[in-house]
Order: sequence, then C-alpha cells, then structure tokens
Amino acid sequence: MSLRDKINMSKLPVHIAVIMDGNGRWAALHGHERVFGHQKGVEPVRNVVEAAAELGIGYLTLYAFSTENWGRPDDEVSALMELMVQSLNNEKDNLLKNNIRLIAIGDFARLNENVRTKLFDTINLTSGSTGLTLILALSYSSKWEITEAVRKLVRDVNAGVIDREAICEEEIEKRLTTYGIPDPDLMIRTSGELRISNFLLWQLAYSEFYFTDILWPDFGKEDLYGAIVDFQNRVRRFGKTSEQILEK
Ligand code: IPE
Ligand code: IPE
Ligand code: MG
Repeated sequence: MSLRDKINMSKLPVHIAVIMDGNGRWAALHGHERVFGHQKGVEPVRNVVEAAAELGIGYLTLYAFSTENWGRPDDEVSALMELMVQSLNNEKDNLLKNNIRLIAIGDFARLNENVRTKLFDTINLTSGSTGLTLILALSYSSKWEITEAVRKLVRDVNAGVIDREAICEEEIEKRLTTYGIPDPDLMIRTSGELRISNFLLWQLAYSEFYFTDILWPDFGKEDLYGAIVDFQNRVRRFGKTSEQILEK
C-alpha cells in the first residue's frame, strides 16, 4: 500500500519547503566523490516535484544552494552550478508538461552569467503555468534576505514612500523575496540534521518541522507522502488553546 492513500486530500499543506541535505554523505557512504552525490540528488528533485504537482500542492520551495555554500571548495561550487544549468535544461519540458511555474529566490548577482540566463529563461518559459509553483532557493540565505528588506525599508522611509510609524509585519513582508507566497505549512529536512541553516527564518515562524534521517539522494515520493501524513496528524495551535482550535 502507498502512503499516498493515507493522505487527507482536503487537508493538504499549501506550501512545503525542503532542505535537501545529505548528498555528500550519501556519496561517501557509497564510495564516491561528493559531486557524485549531487548528481544523484537530481532524481529525487524530479520525483518530489512531480509528486507535489500531482497531489495539487500549491507551492514547493527547494533549498538548492545557500549563501554559505559559496564557501565550499571551488570545484564543488562549479560542479553544483553546472548541474543546475544541466538540470534546468533537462527538466524544462517536464515543468511545462506538468503545468509547473518556476520562480527563484536568492542573491542572483552572485550567480555566473550562464546560470542566471538559464534560470531566467526557464522562469520566463514556465510563467504561464497555473499548477504548482516551484520556488528554487539559490544563493539564498534568510539573513541576506532580511538585511535586503531592511535596506529597502530604510530607503523607502527616506524617500517618503512609507512613514516610519507605518512599518508593520506586512510592510516587512512586502520587501521579502517571498512576498505573495503563503508561508510554508510544512518544512522537511533530510539527512538527520536538526537545524534551519539560514533558511526562511521569517517565513517558517509557524511551520511544522519534519526531520528524517534519509539522505537526500534516497528520498522518494513515498517519503514525501509520509511527511504529509505526519503533518496532517499535528495540531496547529498558532498560540491558541486546544479548545479554541476544536471550536472552529
Ligand atoms: C546538500 O547536500 C546539497 C547542498 C548543500 C548543495 P550536502 O552537500 O550538504 O551533503 P552533506 O551534508 O555534506 O552530506
Ligand atoms: C543547507 O545544507 C543548504 C542546502 C541544502 C542548500 P548545508 O549542508 O549547507 O547545511 P549545514 O551547513 O550543514 O547546516
Ligand atoms: Mg549538508
């Protein structure tokens, strides 16, 4: 039996965010170089994206490369960037076929021309899709994003676009890269690490966290279904009491 059958289709998370971790350890475990693990990490991306689209999930954010990842050895960074270009090339038809709209968040100024062009081309190509919105977090970190938002806010206050007394959560959110996207309901991290690693610090304020020891290259559709079933058994109180939640 598939865990797919245990999913309550009327209680699906609208937005799932995933920290895809453990490629390097997967490679080491199988006697390969780290880069081989990254290559093996492409197929689970395809599967999870396909499963999410097929279920009718609204938004899927994938943490593909963090600001801190720029500090990895040059050859690993280049291999990851090359893999990004290749994957965008290979997957663009699939995205279109599955009615998936690609968008991206991150500091694109740091990406090389090749990656940036491919990324924006794919974003443009899929902009008419009305199914799943796939958000790639690339050269992304939450502290970078929040710092940028503060900078914009100060600029707008100085320019008289907004009064300093009018600053509120909404005005901050408007200046985040995720504006218009509902906050993740469920955040999944693979590879057994119990941390956020500078991912969506603001947006994950009330998300449910799901941690699994599975290394990313081994993560499959069933694992996604399992995470969703687990999520559906949680009680989200948002600061209220259980009684208040039951009354609804
Ligand atoms: C995740 O796998 C991929 C990226 C961070 C780009 P890792 O490369 O972090 O794998 P581990 O954590 O070293 O096993
Ligand atoms: C987080 O994984 C970033 C991505 C999955 C892209 P890392 O492997 O970089 O995280 P840390 O450094 O172990 O926390
Ligand atoms: Mg890692």
